[in-house]
Amino acid sequence: MPLATDDFLDIDDVTPAELDHLLDRAAAMKAGESAPRFPDTTLGMIFEKPSTRTRISFETGMTRLGGHAMFLGPEDLQLGHGEPLRDTARVLGRYVDGTMARLFDHADVVELAEHADCPVINGLTDEAHPCQTLADLLTIREAVGEDASVAWVGDGNNVGQSFVVGAAMAGIDVAVATPADYGMDSAVFERAASFGADVEPTTDPESVVDDADIVYTDVWISMGQEDERAEKLAAFDEFQVNADLLADTDARVLHCLPAHRGEEITDAVLESDRALVWDQAENRMHAQNALLVELLGDGT
Ligand code: CP
Ligand code: NVA
Repeated sequence: MPLATDDFLDIDDVTPAELDHLLDRAAAMKAGESAPRFPDTTLGMIFEKPSTRTRISFETGMTRLGGHAMFLGPEDLQLGHGEPLRDTARVLGRYVDGTMARLFDHADVVELAEHADCPVINGLTDEAHPCQTLADLLTIREAVGEDASVAWVGDGNNVGQSFVVGAAMAGIDVAVATPADYGMDSAVFERAASFGADVEPTTDPESVVDDADIVYTDVWISMGQEDERAEKLAAFDEFQVNADLLADTDARVLHCLPAHRGEEITDAVLESDRALVWDQAENRMHAQNALLVELLGDGT
């Protein structure tokens, strides 16, 4: 089933049925089912921000599919020295078969997709991280199943925003607790509602964790927000995922990583059996390989 979309800029660029199919394919590929091969196929990877998981999972994933991934860091491209993004996009599309981009401004990945004559995948922007959501949903399916309920606790950031929409698409019950000044964009809840989810965000983390199968958190200071550090640390004091918060639940824990131990999550929780984070990180590659098969191939 090829995807109707040419690009994957946020999780709801695919339909719920396509998302379900992608997760099925990811699980099958993880289990060793043979996948289509893409020899002579190159994925360009533009990074304005650092990365461990996104870079390594896409690069290794393309190797596993028989293709090649090209790392293009901030200093590697003329883009970093004044060449306009749209010119970069036009040229890139003449060479590569697909592009994955990790950028600051979400509008930039939209512009890239408009001007590049190849599929474009969002590898994280300030607003969204849909590849992470694919891996999150695969991990939840494995650990709990499709009837899971998930509590997002912490910053209303890129990872959380894509997750809330993706969870709604997958029929997963999601609750959200963020500080008042660091909530998600209201459009996120409208998008979730369009898939039948009624998500009422709260500022009380304790009220969302006790009924959850999974508690999901992410860093309080995302890449590019370093100047807001002091202000944000003060606002997030009550939002740490720690033994106290989890005292009345046996919920498992997700974190997209990298984690800042002692800030949004304690070392003890991250090192405990509750943490699904290493499977979650591995699942980046399986989920993205399924996406690459669908976007770069014909879906067969
Ligand atoms: N979760 C995630 O995207 O990790 P990286 O920043 O290491 O790519
Ligand atoms: N919210 C984090 C996610 C890192 C994968 C950030 O944007 O820095």
